[in-house]
Amino acid sequence: MIQITPLHPLFASEVTGLDLVTGPDDATFAQIEDAFRRRSVLVFREQAISDEIQIRFSQRFGPLETTKVGTNGAGSHLVVLSNIGPEGQIVPPTSRQMLNNRANQFWHTDSSFKPNPARASMLSARAIPLTGGDTQYCCMRAVYTALPERLRDAVEGRVAIHDYTHSRSRIDPELVTVEERKAVPPVRQAMVLDHGPELGRSLYLGAHAAKVEGMSDDAGRSLIDELMAFATRDRFVYTHQWRPFDLILWDNRAVLHRATPFRGTTEARHMVRTTIAGGGPTVADARAVA
Ligand code: OGA
Ligand code: MN
Repeated sequence: MIQITPLHPLFASEVTGLDLVTGPDDATFAQIEDAFRRRSVLVFREQAISDEIQIRFSQRFGPLETTKVGTNGAGSHLVVLSNIGPEGQIVPPTSRQMLNNRANQFWHTDSSFKPNPARASMLSARAIPLTGGDTQYCCMRAVYTALPERLRDAVEGRVAIHDYTHSRSRIDPELVTVEERKAVPPVRQAMVLDHGPELGRSLYLGAHAAKVEGMSDDAGRSLIDELMAFATRDRFVYTHQWRPFDLILWDNRAVLHRATPFRGTTEARHMVRTTIAGGGPTVADARAVA
């Protein structure tokens, strides 16, 4: 028997009593899927799992993404977010690994730079720092509902250009390699996603959103900035302070997320992510014209 308890009035629930080594059985899984659809973020407690068990559980939600070139875990089903190097040492703050981790401190949604952006991500805490290193989530369905009419009109039917190079360049213009640029060229994404009559719509943005199609660069930028400032206010945000072996599943099409800072030069943080692929692009033609 699992228990599902809300963590925030708008979204996010905690799931206890789940055994991922033996289960869940189909009935329990259906209960989890239903809670996930409605709550967008599920925190599974006490899951001291292996990579294999994480992959197996993730795959019950759908096919997984393969990690892109240039990211820790490239070519596999895992993304490793860690400040620990191959010899168990803490890596220097200037290393690629650390800079890429720092990019996760901007509000974003995973893989929105891909033509078929991720449906969900599952993140497992294998080592956590004593303080900081939280993960925050922003409920973009509640945000859409709360948008003033002027902003709702501004995003109606609009398309944003999402670009991995844009978001990474905010950390360091040299961070993205030529190989990465080729692998993930800019894509078009709808600014509003429709989840059907019961769940309504969500605003779809985040750090990869660089421009708004049909607007000047400046006007598009200031619309994105205004929407992001509106969205990421405290009332829409759940802050997760990790406990050892928490496992979190989130809906990339309904929430934004970001990591908070921690003392990364003295404390270890090691997280393993699997990413459940999306069911298709958010617009009919996802390719951006350069
Ligand atoms: C991720 C991510 C944030 C964190 O796994 O996609 O952005 O807190 N993680 O590690
Ligand atoms: Mn992320």
